[in-house]
Amino acid sequence: MNNSKSLNPDHRKVLKVMDGMAYEKPPIWMMRQAGRYLPEYRALREKAGGFLELCYTPKFAIDVTMQPIRRFGFDAAILFSDILVIPDALGRSVRFDAGHGPQLDPINVEDIANLDGSNFMDHLSPVIEAVEGIRAELPIETTLLGFCGAPWTVATYMIAGHGTPDQAPARLFAHAHPEEFAELLDIIVQSSAEYLIAQLKAGADAVQIFDSWASVLDEDQFDKWCIRPVAKIVQLVREQLPEAKIIGFPKGVGQYYSTYREKTAINMMGLDWAMPMSFAAELQKQGAVQGNLDPTRLIAGGRALDEGIDMILENLSSGPLVFNLGHGITPQTPIAHVEQMIKRVRG
Ligand code: CP3
Repeated sequence: MNNSKSLNPDHRKVLKVMDGMAYEKPPIWMMRQAGRYLPEYRALREKAGGFLELCYTPKFAIDVTMQPIRRFGFDAAILFSDILVIPDALGRSVRFDAGHGPQLDPINVEDIANLDGSNFMDHLSPVIEAVEGIRAELPIETTLLGFCGAPWTVATYMIAGHGTPDQAPARLFAHAHPEEFAELLDIIVQSSAEYLIAQLKAGADAVQIFDSWASVLDEDQFDKWCIRPVAKIVQLVREQLPEAKIIGFPKGVGQYYSTYREKTAINMMGLDWAMPMSFAAELQKQGAVQGNLDPTRLIAGGRALDEGIDMILENLSSGPLVFNLGHGITPQTPIAHVEQMIKRVRG
């Protein structure tokens, strides 16, 4: 992978796409590319003893981040961490028991005033150290992405204490206690901006904001709790780093995608798979897009996979495109299918 002496940071293709460049063979990476579908991940997770131990031990986080780069040579690496390290660093301890998903003590109205940000960046210093270490190990042409969760998505886990199918607990909280909810989101906004700035200063080339639960809100609430907080994070980051490159991923928001891009001022839009390709192509006229293969095509492999890839390339590869899945890769995905995908995208 390091046979590339003539390359320099200007050759990081994902960044070029964010500036509007189109590649016939687009750069490729996968959401959740470091994870349980890889035997080397499962082995290291067992050695580390738990998921948060992986996140907070720089040598483990560096190694896990590098695993899919070593195996597949993706065009971008994404920092290995989780969106829930933010509530963890604010004193709402988060647990990841194998097979359970994340668990938190549900936050109530009174708890919000007591959120403790005094130790916030100290708590996250191993993650920032990992960013520096990853950049040092990555091939020079590979883009390094940092990330955080969007405030609304992070808040849904803080309020319910776990994942839910429709985020009814957080929606209800926002309607019943709008002032306290705004306060909670503002704390997450300030913390997330500080965290992203630290990642960018430590060597991340760009950052992605995961807004995985953006699709469950009505129009008024979507504007208040998704668009405005993300726009505020973008503004705070660019006050310190005017050139900061930011990817937004408001999963499943359909018609609202273009408003989201305009109002948040992100540089690239992550797309899910459940939209007409003609609509994706329209969105691409406003700027770079990333996506959007249905992850179940990657599990199925064969023709389902080839056809899904071709559909994206035919419709989107004449404009600025980063090839990705429309959501994270799942643990049951065969590694051979990932190889098949990369080969086809790279021709
Ligand atoms: O993409 C990457 O490779 C970087 C690492 C990354 C993880 N989580 C690692 C992880 C990233 C970017 C995330 C984002 C994340 N985390 C999101 C947004 C994206 C999305 O998938 O919607 C959300 C909602 C979370 C919260 C979270 N973390 C959930 C709901 C779960 C449990 C579900 C699951 O897949 O197990 C996690 C755990 C988690 N985060 C794992 C990994 C590799 C699995 C942990 C394990 O090893 O058991």
